[in-house]
Amino acid sequence: MMDILHAENISRSFSVGSTAIDVLKGINLEIAKGTFNILMGPSGSGKTTLLNILGALDRPDTGKVFFDGRDITCMSERKRDALRRSKLGFVFQSVALVSNMSAYENIDFALRISKYNVRERKRRVEECLDFVGLKKRMKHYPGEMSGGEQQRVAIARAIAHKPMLLLADEPTAELDTNTGLRVVKLFKDLVVREGITIIMCTHDPSMMGIADRIYTLEDGVIIDVA
Ligand SMILES: Nc1ncnc2c1ncn2[C@@H]1O[C@H](COP(=O)(O)OP(=O)(O)OP(=O)(O)O)[C@@H](O)[C@H]1O
Ligand SMILES: [Mg+2]
Repeated sequence: MMDILHAENISRSFSVGSTAIDVLKGINLEIAKGTFNILMGPSGSGKTTLLNILGALDRPDTGKVFFDGRDITCMSERKRDALRRSKLGFVFQSVALVSNMSAYENIDFALRISKYNVRERKRRVEECLDFVGLKKRMKHYPGEMSGGEQQRVAIARAIAHKPMLLLADEPTAELDTNTGLRVVKLFKDLVVREGITIIMCTHDPSMMGIADRIYTLEDGVIIDVA
């Protein structure tokens, strides 16, 4: 299988006051195209830090990340921005929908920067809302939806531009177990039906059965790949 993402010897430290904390210590990772990958590990083990580097939101101190065959670590910020907008999708723990826009408008707004014309955009927004089971709620505002429903709108928004890679940082952390599992099943559908590659951070062991591969991080090192 082809790798879509490939990280080599990633390290990252942060200075706080006069001390430096080594958060990532030589991470190597290969993510195959069209697979569902989970990053597990205790709080503070470096999951978010790693995800941000893989998604070109942050740069490592050493090491390289190759996305779709290109080294993204030495790209200009402008190129990385263009890459994020066209090829990557992000879902975060706390849903960041625009509160005075309806579900439809939130997704449509995200698509405005893409190449879609008005009619294609309408079709795609409705298709994505349908995919997450919320087409009937498209006129609803975030405040009129439950946490799980808002997270599903955020997922619809993250996939509307058809990213190759979706990065999700604890997207189910604020949801109850069943709603969380429903969100994760949507991810699985995306991988199976649309061939998207997903990397998701989670603490939740009940999510593990659904992934193709599980990377366990501890203290900045990958200690297990299953
Ligand atoms: N910008 C920063 N400045 C200083 N320290 C940071 C910064 N970002 C992360 N850290 C530290 O790096 C370590 C790893 O943080 P990270 O957020 O990657 O952990 P995590 O595995 O995602 O944890 P959680 O499960 O709680 O989300 C933590 O000790 C954190 O305090
Ligand atoms: Mg985190």
